[in-house]
Amino acid sequence: MDSARLSVDASLPWTLCMEDRMSLVRLDHAGRLWALNTPHSTYVIGVAVAAGTDEVAVLQQYWGASLTPSAAREAAAMPAGPGNSSGAGRHETSFSRPAEIEELLPVDGGLRWGVPALQVTVDRVRSLELRFVRVDPVCEDDADRLDITLEDRAFPIEVVLHTRVYTDSDVIARWVTLRHRATRETAVKVSRLDSGSWFVPDAEDYRYRAVCGAWAEEGQLQQGRLPVGELTFTSRQGITGHHANPWIMIGGPDVGEEHGEVWSVALAWSGSWRMTTTRRPEGGTAVTAGFGHEGVRWTLPAGAELVTPMILGRYGADGFGGTSRGWHDHVRRRILPAGDEDRPVLYNSWEATGFEVTAPEQLSLARRAAALGAELFVVDDGWFGRRDDEHSSLGDWWPHRKRFPDGLRGLFDGVRALGMGAGLWVEPEAVSPDSDLYRVHPDWVLHLENRRRDRKRDQLVLNFARAEVRDWALEWLDRLVADLRLDYLKWDMNRPFTQAGWPDSGRSHDCVWIEHTRHIFHTMAALRDRHPGLRLEACAGGGGRLDLGILHYTDQAWPSDNTDPVDRQTTQHGVSQLYPANVMSTWVTDSPNANTGRSTPLRYRFHVAMAGVLGIGADLSRWSPEELEEAGAMVEQYKAVRRTIQHGRQYRLGGRPGVERSGLQYVLDDQVVVLVYNPRGNAKSGPRWLRLIGLDPDALYEVAAGGDPHGAPGRLAAASRWHGSTLMAVGVRPTAWEPIGADYRSDLILLRRIPG
Ligand code: DGJ
Repeated sequence: MDSARLSVDASLPWTLCMEDRMSLVRLDHAGRLWALNTPHSTYVIGVAVAAGTDEVAVLQQYWGASLTPSAAREAAAMPAGPGNSSGAGRHETSFSRPAEIEELLPVDGGLRWGVPALQVTVDRVRSLELRFVRVDPVCEDDADRLDITLEDRAFPIEVVLHTRVYTDSDVIARWVTLRHRATRETAVKVSRLDSGSWFVPDAEDYRYRAVCGAWAEEGQLQQGRLPVGELTFTSRQGITGHHANPWIMIGGPDVGEEHGEVWSVALAWSGSWRMTTTRRPEGGTAVTAGFGHEGVRWTLPAGAELVTPMILGRYGADGFGGTSRGWHDHVRRRILPAGDEDRPVLYNSWEATGFEVTAPEQLSLARRAAALGAELFVVDDGWFGRRDDEHSSLGDWWPHRKRFPDGLRGLFDGVRALGMGAGLWVEPEAVSPDSDLYRVHPDWVLHLENRRRDRKRDQLVLNFARAEVRDWALEWLDRLVADLRLDYLKWDMNRPFTQAGWPDSGRSHDCVWIEHTRHIFHTMAALRDRHPGLRLEACAGGGGRLDLGILHYTDQAWPSDNTDPVDRQTTQHGVSQLYPANVMSTWVTDSPNANTGRSTPLRYRFHVAMAGVLGIGADLSRWSPEELEEAGAMVEQYKAVRRTIQHGRQYRLGGRPGVERSGLQYVLDDQVVVLVYNPRGNAKSGPRWLRLIGLDPDALYEVAAGGDPHGAPGRLAAASRWHGSTLMAVGVRPTAWEPIGADYRSDLILLRRIPG
């Protein structure tokens, strides 16, 4: 280790940026060791020089519970062996334990054999050898950042590793800037640029959680022992995808829902992506992730830079449940554009009417929806061009002349007169070959020379990487929102990328995989800027675009086209692992369910949908007066508790949702909302008492009047007040959990903490 080569400005203070917050602390004289502190964790980064070279490795030397600066210094030096205090000990380059697993961005080059997070080819040489340039602490308003700049020894390549810690979150954000610094053209091909790699410390064994799935079956929780080897989740579809979601949580062997250390990583990107977790046989695990997928190459012109999306990591010691709550808070506070707002109850007729939308019938549904208490009325697919089915008109974004001869203004004026906001479905990235747009601009779609243009759902994908496509979309969306005074857009995307090329660009085809997504973000941001009151819902044929990238620009997301409440329970369970309830759109639809044919009581459907942003997607013209009355009461009850559900701390109370007795609990200030479900009414096995979590043990809680409009919440009702400690140690015994009764019973139990 030659610290003299790390030319850090010696005048830098030891504690940056604000002494009292201690979020960024220089740990050594040379400025090669830094502690980044969140409220409950410490992340130590060290720059080490490989013996006999000027090549450096930037290492994650610690990530875990909060440490004092002197303990962080010790932790960084620890594994080097007794007596070694140099801090460089971890940068061993032996066969037994390559250091690359602990690097923040292991490159393809040097003594490395693992999954490269950065792979660049310059002048036919696919290998990087990076040396240290400088380190820059950056003070931001309520966050601190450390930028470490490296450069290749021979090629004009600069790499900046950015790490940000926030004052109010245990989530750490990282990203990378890659620069081609040549003034004359040299061929720089980027075949991999991850946002960063995170090292999960050695453990005797690991347990992981992730979600997998398919269309209409998104968000299925996959968990178990992390195998030795490389576990990759990916999307090659140009969207986040239904098959996996870009996050993983990893704990030790005895981690549980509410106890144990968990290291979690999530990527904020909505195009194709890859996340690989490598568990080495010699110990240690690393997660690396980024945009793009293998085989896609990016050419970096001289003077250009490529900035990755953010990758976020969180350490916590309160199990998977605490980890989820940490992410929920971060998403609400730091990612969503309007995270603190209460989301309205919406009505959408897609399942009721399909493409058959007409002004009189939509208005009649709007009247019924308003009578139930809906606050936002959304017209879905079928309102534009000549769209009578899925075979035409995407791209022709003007009102369907036969269905809406007088346009949509009258309908939305009627909707507003009923006291509801106005919302519309759009699919800006799609085009039907049978559309005026395609007839005029056949070159605007993703395509390759001499290749077919395969259709899916009879549509193609517009190439949003093209500035003229992006600008065209922004203009018509802007006009539509302004003309109709829209409060909300459901932004759908039903067509994964194929034949993804841009022949007349003069650039590599592969640039579309990244620039398309960037321009979607740009369009959403610009639209919001022009219409600050506009709210957006992300959708991609169900839950194909739910991630921390799109949530920077949208307010909620549609998790699945499958609205069967029993199936939805498993999807919503998966979604809840990372995403808060206020981003999860959930509808009550008809029974039997259109997707599954399963019949369920209205009450069960409501209770499942109340676990997110409640919506109604049923054909209300077919509901009986009794059903309408019951629904109205449920909507009213939801409104009384929605702040707690959408913004409170969420506890998953055990039981496999949709399969056996399960419960969900939300706590905000003095309100506690408990949703309990029992899909198999007379199942004898399983708990009957439900122990609550996260209450104040010394406070008294009472069952709030009207908390359960359809029956007492079991033995709890017998007493009027209970200590939090009792509710946590003994629990409540919900009537819906009694072992003899009908299938699909559910309750909402509302408790209030007595002040004082
Ligand atoms: C797919 C969405 O997931 C549905 O909710 C609906 O909007 C259809 N597209 C409309 O085509």
